[in-house]
Amino acid sequence: MSAININYPAGGRSDNEIFISNVKTLREGVLVGTARLPFASTEKPVVIYGQTLASGDIEYRTVSAQCPHQGADISRDELNDDGNVYCSLHRRPICIYSEYNQAYLTEKRGDGYVIVKS
Ligand code: FES
Repeated sequence: MSAININYPAGGRSDNEIFISNVKTLREGVLVGTARLPFASTEKPVVIYGQTLASGDIEYRTVSAQCPHQGADISRDELNDDGNVYCSLHRRPICIYSEYNQAYLTEKRGDGYVIVKS
């Protein structure tokens, strides 16, 4: 599980719960799947990051697997201690747990994962 030094509330907002399909573990604390994120017209690859909180609970956050700059796949890039993933193509940060993150709070329900209404 990722251990980072900062943690701001999830900044992404969703009017509905969104089920994430085809979820599989990529590496410890990082899962991939597909979902139709808010403002998207189709289902696309997403990355789910898990972080162990001080309480021992695991908090999951989901972002698009496609970099907002030019669409590179960020799923193999590491989550850094500053709460960002730096896209391997042009090194732009994608916020997951940092101040301006647009990650969606996600819950594990049974064997599935759901972006929660927020
Ligand atoms: S495609 Fe990710 S930084 Fe350019």
